[in-house]
Amino acid sequence: MMRTYLLGRALWLCLFAAAGFVCFDAAPATAQEEEKPYSITDGKVDWYTYSGYRRYHGECHVCHGPDGLGSSFGPSLVNSLKTLSYDEYLEVVVNGRQNVSQASHRAMPAFGMNPNVMCFVDDIYAYLKARSDGALGRGRPEHGPKPDEARERDNACLGF
Ligand code: HEC
Repeated sequence: MMRTYLLGRALWLCLFAAAGFVCFDAAPATAQEEEKPYSITDGKVDWYTYSGYRRYHGECHVCHGPDGLGSSFGPSLVNSLKTLSYDEYLEVVVNGRQNVSQASHRAMPAFGMNPNVMCFVDDIYAYLKARSDGALGRGRPEHGPKPDEARERDNACLGF
């Protein structure tokens, strides 16, 4: 009897904790509430955002269009990042996505093993976020100098 009671109580607490977690998880910070991952001073973007521009146009624009505007091969990421959170963005880039419900065979490749993408995944996010927020126009942005820490980060990540 006692045992059942304790078990019942423990279970209840468990469910309560789980429900609390689910509630918390069901309402993650919206894309708008996240701190801005880019900065623009005197019309110049920070180095990381510029790096994102370059990497985006190296790896993503063939499908997602120039300047993130979309193409017949992939959706506009300028639009997508108005609603996708950073975590959702990261998940798709790492794992890819195959939209099985659509007749088209277009798919988002998985880039999780590609250092040319993964080393710069935050830079690409910063660039696309700036575009998505309307803070940055089309084309190659003016940018600040490359900080030493960015050089060290790139070399460490790419294994130079
Ligand atoms: C070979 C074409 C192709 C390339 C290259 C590509 N993507 Fe995609 N991507 C797609 C397609 C197609 C979708 C839509 C998948 C779906 O929803 O079924 C997509 C979806 C996405 C989404 C989700 C968009 C949303 O609204 O849910 C993100 C984020 C994304 N791609 C980021 C990137 C990034 C960053 C790169 C470059 C590192 C990249 N993609 C390169 C084809 C591509």
